[in-house]
Amino acid sequence: MRILVLNGVNLDVLGRRDAKLYGGLSLGELESRIYQWARDVGASAQCKQSNSEGEFIDWCHEAYDWADGVIVNPGAWTHFNYAIRDALELFEAPVVEVHLSNVDEREEWRRVSVIRDVVAHRVIGKGPDGYKEAIEWLTSRR
Ligand code: DQA
Repeated sequence: MRILVLNGVNLDVLGRRDAKLYGGLSLGELESRIYQWARDVGASAQCKQSNSEGEFIDWCHEAYDWADGVIVNPGAWTHFNYAIRDALELFEAPVVEVHLSNVDEREEWRRVSVIRDVVAHRVIGKGPDGYKEAIEWLTSRR
């Protein structure tokens, strides 16, 4: 199973962000764990991060034909970006929305997810381990 993991805006500076909210890992450390978690369940992951909306959407387009599952944390784009929503909607493979922090218990505007209705599953507020749960959810559906 080939899993595309897309992290969006400001997740490149994860290690500088509030550790109490986001877990304290750098993006590189998080991606290393993701690669290992995927191997542990016999899957392969491809991790990508961008601060550029167009690049993020291009990666979706390139993956429609190869990804067997998608894990996406769009960062703040989650709350307002309909172009990313439209790109995610076109995946035939299941898409899992992950947030490190518990967006449902933070500011009002973070409780809105414009991708919510196009994802198959959501994992929220479990820190880095949320990606592990998402990988296991995808692989358990095979
Ligand atoms: C986030 C939550 C978003 O509200 C925020 O803008 C982020 C990270 C999370 O993983 O908790 O950048 O998606």
